[in-house]
Amino acid sequence: MPTPSHMTCVEDFRVLAQRRVPRMFYDYADSGSWTESTYRANESDLQKLKFRQRVAVNIEKRSLRSSMIGQDVAMPVAIAPTGLTGMQRADGEILGARAAEAFGIPFTLSTMSVCSIEDIAAHTSKPFWFQLYVMRDRDFIGQLIDRAKAARCSALVITLDLQVLGQRHKDLKNGLSTPPKPTLANLINLATKPQWCMQMLGTKRRTFGNIVGHAKGVDDLGSLSTWTAEQFDTTLNWNDLAWIKNRWGGKIILKGIMDAQDARLAVECGADALIVSNHGGRQLDGAPSSISALPGIVHAVGKEIEVWMDGGIRSGQDVLRAIALGARGTMIGRAFLYSLGAMGEAGVRRCLQMIANELDISMAFCGHTDIHHIDRSILVNGDIFD
Ligand code: GLV
Repeated sequence: MPTPSHMTCVEDFRVLAQRRVPRMFYDYADSGSWTESTYRANESDLQKLKFRQRVAVNIEKRSLRSSMIGQDVAMPVAIAPTGLTGMQRADGEILGARAAEAFGIPFTLSTMSVCSIEDIAAHTSKPFWFQLYVMRDRDFIGQLIDRAKAARCSALVITLDLQVLGQRHKDLKNGLSTPPKPTLANLINLATKPQWCMQMLGTKRRTFGNIVGHAKGVDDLGSLSTWTAEQFDTTLNWNDLAWIKNRWGGKIILKGIMDAQDARLAVECGADALIVSNHGGRQLDGAPSSISALPGIVHAVGKEIEVWMDGGIRSGQDVLRAIALGARGTMIGRAFLYSLGAMGEAGVRRCLQMIANELDISMAFCGHTDIHHIDRSILVNGDIFD
């Protein structure tokens, strides 16, 4: 049986997660939309950035400590909101939030999570962030915001790039549902995942905890996928952000910005941070990679708002690359999910440690000791995406 100390890179977690997590949920995480070209480019474009090795610099005392929207972080990395996390592993959101808290980085709970806002609040002691999908039922959205406030969430992450869903072939072919339907194909696949099944039998959290029992007309799972398709608000526009901001009254992070004009609108609406994100290549296939979109957005608004990035980050070196190109923070989605699916809370802790170690040592190889001093001068080709 592998233990967390056997894991040395995110790829180890991915391989183990593929063995341990039922196919439809592993595939849900490990997929992009249509041809998956943007999904792949997120990772491959990061690899194009090459470091400038510096030597004979005193690298004795080093620090990765930073801040994101004024909150201290052990490294400039937050856990991204990911849907259905409690299906990668029983109680997955609680496990992820606890690992993030222990490590000292923010955890973001998705609207489409299995564990609810209240579950996370009950199992953590520091504030977490809540990600909001805007739906047509404004009463329900208002209640979600109020629940996040009552749970003392310290930021609202508003996702702007999912009014409609990019087609992910695997989800359609697998008949994705939460929990899985007892079809023959699913039962055969589940029979090969005994640990997952045992853990899932041991929890009561097997549905969308923020929604079922809260939103009108949603009391069973069968109706939920239809409800979601009908409810995501295709009319969402910049004017709507005013009332959301007003009702929330706290810090706002806008997720899904890929264009300098949209970045300008994000500044104008008073957001505290924006995330350069193509939703992990899961929405508009054919859009540029996040890392290649980052410099243009930093150039346009980086002095007025914190610009962060997600998409393709699988290592501490990738975090360093994003920071070098001007990101003040990063988010990890799949790296988190793979470690969670493979080994639960201990896996996530190990993964965060691994990313931090690699970030720390790579920073040192570039001749730096403080993450605040990192800029594009640590890259030999930092202008390739200009
Ligand atoms: C939801 O956020 C998804 O990408 O599936």
